[in-house]
Amino acid sequence: MQHSAILNVMIKAAYRAGRSLKRDLGEVENLQVSLKGPRNFVTAADRRAEEIVYQDLTKARPDYGFLGEEGGARPGADKSHRWIVDPLDGTTNFLHGIPQFAVSIALERDGVIVAGLTYNPANDDLFVAERGKGAFLNDRRIRVAARQHLNEAVVGCGLPHFGRGDLALGRREIEAAQQHFAGLRRFGAATLDLAWLAAGRLDAFWERDLSPWDMAAGIILVRESGGFISDIDGGDAVLAKGNIVAGNDAMHRELLRLLKEAAKDAAELKEMSSPSEA
Ligand code: IPD
Ligand code: CA
Ligand code: CA
Repeated sequence: MQHSAILNVMIKAAYRAGRSLKRDLGEVENLQVSLKGPRNFVTAADRRAEEIVYQDLTKARPDYGFLGEEGGARPGADKSHRWIVDPLDGTTNFLHGIPQFAVSIALERDGVIVAGLTYNPANDDLFVAERGKGAFLNDRRIRVAARQHLNEAVVGCGLPHFGRGDLALGRREIEAAQQHFAGLRRFGAATLDLAWLAAGRLDAFWERDLSPWDMAAGIILVRESGGFISDIDGGDAVLAKGNIVAGNDAMHRELLRLLKEAAKDAAELKEMSSPSEA
């Protein structure tokens, strides 16, 4: 399969970081039984992976900016291009030896994501997309699922964290989804959730409190596989707001509607329990 030069650079970087993570996963499995546990080792593995991606990408395009989860923003002379990288998405899974984690790389040009990839080194699933060229899983063209009925749909989501975001709202959203969909899944790596949606494995996905590197590659993977993406208010500010709703046309619309109702219910409940604060 022929990819553009830039996508080849991204793939090479992801494979190299992936090899490093795969090696480290073996050590993580050994460390599960040690008293200290694998946490510090995983932090180092994460940083190593980001450094590999950074080195490869900046060698090929020295002027581009770089935003990585570990190293933060490293501005480049070329102000129109920026890499957005999560060197290890699904850290908690990785820490526990659960093979659902990924390296995710996106390229943004003038504020628009033009290429993206998500690679799971544990099973070698490589999802790639470029603007206007479609989305692929290991060189096979992928499309979002065609399902139209909520009661047949399997939907991915995040789980609200204690101490982060609006817990009551998150619970209400999950309850609404449980009432309507065939199944809910929380896999723990948002980049793969979006890639799996692009490949038709999930019918819809939503999550709040995400960072740009959790979503950037997924945005183009989903759009290039015929899916729809918005923020939870139905707008385009996914990266700025840090929340996302995705699905095929019907599932995206229905999920947005359910989430809107859930937000209304949560606000009403809040008002009832403490009228003066609302
Ligand atoms: C996390 C994963 C997870 C999502 C979290 C993210 P990390 O990224 O994508 O699925 O629920 O909000 O922070 O920390 O494993 O790179
Ligand atoms: Ca992440
Ligand atoms: Ca990460």
